Amino acid sequence: MIALKDTGIRSAVLLVLLTLWSGTSHSQHPGRPAMDEEVSKQEAIYQSPGEKLPEGYVVDRSLLAYASILSAEFDRSLASLGPTDRWLDIGAGAGRAILDYYTPRYDSMHVEGRERRGKKAQAVAISIEDRRTPHWHKAAASLEADKVRYLFGKRLRQYSQEELGKFQLITDVIGGFSYTQNLSLFMENVLGYLELNGSFYTLLLDVLPDNGTIRTHYPETLFLTEIAGADGSDVRVCAWLKSIACVEVTCESRTESKRPIELYRIRKVCNSVAVPALSSLQFVAGTPPQRRFQLGGPSPAPPGQANTTR
Ligand SMILES: C[S@@+](CC[C@H](N)C(=O)[O-])C[C@H]1O[C@@H](n2cnc3c(N)ncnc32)[C@H](O)[C@@H]1O
Repeated sequence: MIALKDTGIRSAVLLVLLTLWSGTSHSQHPGRPAMDEEVSKQEAIYQSPGEKLPEGYVVDRSLLAYASILSAEFDRSLASLGPTDRWLDIGAGAGRAILDYYTPRYDSMHVEGRERRGKKAQAVAISIEDRRTPHWHKAAASLEADKVRYLFGKRLRQYSQEELGKFQLITDVIGGFSYTQNLSLFMENVLGYLELNGSFYTLLLDVLPDNGTIRTHYPETLFLTEIAGADGSDVRVCAWLKSIACVEVTCESRTESKRPIELYRIRKVCNSVAVPALSSLQFVAGTPPQRRFQLGGPSPAPPGQANTTR
């Protein structure tokens, strides 16, 4: 806990994140984005070989990086999971954060709760593409059977409750939450996999934060995730999350950078979850992609797309 809570480390890792983020690559913004073409470009990013990863497509963040990037509460939530609890990491990349959790070093940094944790929670990593490394195979093989699972080849929405089960803790560090074309369906799925009182920790880069600032405070920002109301006005992602029934949401904007980042903790407090629908207005491939949604109406499948691309 000591090291992960250290604000110096948190800021340092955030700085690394920001450096990578400023190098984020985007295809040229077409006047009328040809959605199919953007989806193919995005697929090529996912499938890019390890030695040719596009700028900004980071797949090997450590658990220390997760703890520094996500809300500080994440570190405590993970450390307090017991051996019968479960953690899902959506968009896990190489799954490095999960492997770090099972190391003796993790326990030496989180002395509190060590007894309770025992052999630790079960963790499930999901990624569209298989980014497992020799290190993953070796480390996973040294753990108790079924302690960790790595699933690939599908998006979150393509799994069933029987395949994944339920989780006390779900994380997403620049994974599906930043990349999906259908944010409301994505949130519905996340909340469906969350146990009552379980928490989902995530963040967005280049998003209009809920801290009262207006768009013109960020003259150089290309907003990556935007929501428009029915009248075209800005709807903050935080406000949209807070409008979901049966969740308690904390939004934390990070001010270390002139560019806006917002951290989210979403706790499921009852079972009748209802997520206000968003439809996709724009999707431009990138790391992460640039997405614009509109509040209201059913979320239509993008033209010419099967559901598998979301
Ligand atoms: C930039 S990498 C981040 C990897 C990891 N979280 C890290 O920080 O090192 C994006 C990951 O999100 C995954 N991803 C994107 N959209 C997804 C979705 N809808 N469902 C599951 N995984 C998704 C990608 O396959 C990839 O593993």
